[in-house]
Amino acid sequence: MSNIGSYDKRAKNFDWNIAEKELDYKDGDLINIGWYCSDRICEMGKADKMALIWEGHAGKAKKYTYNDIRLTSNTIGDFLRGLGIKAEDRVCLFMDKIPELYLGFLGILKIGAIAQPLFSAFGDESLFVRLDNAQTRAIITQKKHVSKIRKIIDKMPYLEFIIVVDHDPSKPLQEREIAFNLEETPNVENIEIHPTKAESPSVLHYTSGTTGQPKGVKHVHYSLISQYLTTKWVLDLREDDVYWCTADPGWVTGTSYGIIGPFSLGVTQCVLDAGFSADNWYRFIEQYRVTVWYSAPTAIRSLMKAGDDVVKKYDLSSLRHLASVGEPLNSEAVIWSEKVFGKPFYDTYWQTETGSIMISNFPGMKVKPGSMGLAFPGIDSCVVDVNTYEPIKETGKVGLIAFRPGWPAMMRTYWRNEEVYNKKFQNGWYIPGDRSSIDNEGYFWFVGRDDDVINTGGHLVSPFEVESALLEHEAVAESAVVSKPDFVNMEVVKAFVNLKPGFEPSKELDLKIMNFVRKKLSPLAMPQEIEFVDSLPKTRSGKIMRRILHAKEWGEEIGDTSTLEDD
Ligand code: PRX
Repeated sequence: MSNIGSYDKRAKNFDWNIAEKELDYKDGDLINIGWYCSDRICEMGKADKMALIWEGHAGKAKKYTYNDIRLTSNTIGDFLRGLGIKAEDRVCLFMDKIPELYLGFLGILKIGAIAQPLFSAFGDESLFVRLDNAQTRAIITQKKHVSKIRKIIDKMPYLEFIIVVDHDPSKPLQEREIAFNLEETPNVENIEIHPTKAESPSVLHYTSGTTGQPKGVKHVHYSLISQYLTTKWVLDLREDDVYWCTADPGWVTGTSYGIIGPFSLGVTQCVLDAGFSADNWYRFIEQYRVTVWYSAPTAIRSLMKAGDDVVKKYDLSSLRHLASVGEPLNSEAVIWSEKVFGKPFYDTYWQTETGSIMISNFPGMKVKPGSMGLAFPGIDSCVVDVNTYEPIKETGKVGLIAFRPGWPAMMRTYWRNEEVYNKKFQNGWYIPGDRSSIDNEGYFWFVGRDDDVINTGGHLVSPFEVESALLEHEAVAESAVVSKPDFVNMEVVKAFVNLKPGFEPSKELDLKIMNFVRKKLSPLAMPQEIEFVDSLPKTRSGKIMRRILHAKEWGEEIGDTSTLEDD
């Protein structure tokens, strides 16, 4: 029997206080995610239970019990407090998936500061716009990433501390840099947990939109209520599970379900901080006897590409439940998974803004390959008309996904961007910006995004950010960035570039421009293809019409072009 039991019964009698009761929380109580994820589990008698099994490159491994994560997060929190970091100060985590990232996250929350995780592959420009928006006071990082911070430090007077967790003592530290080695720092047995309440800010994740700079999605400690219960009912985590979430905590899946969910349930989880290879992933599952696996369609398609024979080399019989998030999970991938693992991947749908899973295939229910499943109990959802925002009654008709606001993990605002936040609500609904239909059994069928944001391998890339970076290259006069289809990543970035006089298209320039974007933004944002053009399609008012270029890439109808410049 799954944790959720009967979906219908749960949906009928749902109240978030189911989670509150299990977490011993009452309205008005103090609530601190850092404490719930470590101290509370120890107080429940599970101090010696394995919390985190970490494996890095070349098989280097470390293990932490719940008492270890309690102590090490205390130690990091205490260190930050010693520097003068106060409640609500933003502390950025800019690291690969090393233990300090997980432990630092809890330590920051324990002292009431706001954890701002950023993907460690970000280049200096991506990093700068996010730190600048958050006015971040401290950043915890690794020596391999320090050079990116040094490049932009002069523009960031508010960034007082650059904390390096693996500093090489033979090298000099530069301005504002501090060495902090967790293993060489004596453990702090007790720390005063900051008295955070439900609405105290906890995590600030950045997400990209079509226009403007990335938005800082502000979450609060009360999000725990949703994250705990969705982890329990959707991922079905139980006492004896060994859970593997492949997401990086630089993104929301890696924090909501790679830290908060599993640790608040007191489950053992493992982390693999190494590049992707099918052999290594299967070996990891076999070695640690992984039972519940939460991954992403791009990873599943990469495994599909590696073939069925490699699966047979490993004993994967420990796997009990598989789930996926981040991009459309095509039915072929679900069917393949059933064939090779003996169980389907259960698709789940949510966003950085929703903080927790909103639509999902629940354990025990009928999976319809290609569908995202049903709304989580208690989530009032529908699809609404694109123009009127009125709920669509007919089944199968495409509209915008809409959720009635009010679940615990819902974002509270976009950091210093209330205006854009307010635009996400229409006619009393929160509109995530995705199109879907709903069938006669209430299953959601994803159709596409309602904006130009590119979802490459489950990571959102803003065409605006890439275009802005391209414009900084000396050879680029104008550019338009759209997605193009890709088997593994679903879509990848493609740039149309109009060169300045004096520059000629060449393979060399092509590579130079690609690398320029990779370094400034990230490998994800780097165009996989650059097409040099003499002009770009524009509206009469001069706005570049990405829609036309996009349609061409996807072999779609171009639609109404009546506002085009050349008409
Ligand atoms: O477009 C949807 C897509 O990813 C977006 C959210 O991205 P992000 O905020 O980075 O969070 C990713 C992980 C929660 C959504 O607006 N998306 C997410 N899950 C699915 C999906 N698209 C199709 N199917 C899904 N299951």
